[in-house]
Amino acid sequence: MNKTYKTKICKHCKQEEKHYLSNFCCKCGRNSFDIIELIKVTKEDYQFLYSLSTNSKVRKYLLSQKKFTYQQHLRYWRTFMGLAYVIYYNGTKAGLLREQERELSIQILPNFWNKGIGTAAIAKYIKNRKGFYARIINVNLASLKVFQNSGFEYSHCVLKR
Ligand SMILES: CC(C)(COP(=O)(O)OP(=O)(O)OC[C@H]1O[C@@H](n2cnc3c(N)ncnc32)[C@H](O)[C@@H]1OP(=O)(O)O)[C@@H](O)C(=O)NCCC(=O)NCCS
Ligand SMILES: [Zn+2]
Repeated sequence: MNKTYKTKICKHCKQEEKHYLSNFCCKCGRNSFDIIELIKVTKEDYQFLYSLSTNSKVRKYLLSQKKFTYQQHLRYWRTFMGLAYVIYYNGTKAGLLREQERELSIQILPNFWNKGIGTAAIAKYIKNRKGFYARIINVNLASLKVFQNSGFEYSHCVLKR
């Protein structure tokens, strides 16, 4: 079965609203929410995923800086063995969450940064499960924040020369 994930977060305090039918935020009492959904990647998403992963502001923070053609991108996704979800923000494609052998990685289009989407997507996906890890380059403070806010702890670093 293709599992999807859906969560509702307050636009103001970015907290998940657990009372899904409630019109008002439990924390601040205001009434504007964002809907974040994770829906399994299909071949209809390949074009979107290419524009996401080749976006210069996103690429800057990826571990691999290797350039790739659209053909290589297609080959990657056609043979991808992990779990991958497009992140929707109020019905619009905004990012990607991927799990491969317990490693989580996330990419969100810059227009959608700092709205609480990354934190909500990771928190909803992992729930109470343990045993995941993420590899993050040291200058990527936003990503460190997102994973730490979702309960991940700093474990080790890798030195390169
Ligand atoms: C990392 C990324 C997924 C975060 O997504 P997002 O939806 O913007 O995340 P959120 O809005 O949930 O949270 C961002 C957090 O980073 C903090 N932050 C943002 N920019 C920051 C900066 N320059 N320095 C320190 N903290 C920063 C925000 O304050 C927020 O933390 P808070 O909720 O404690 O205030 C997104 O920036 C991205 O796609 N970056 C490019 C790709 C990438 O880095 N992927 C991660 C590799 S695993
Ligand atoms: Zn609120």
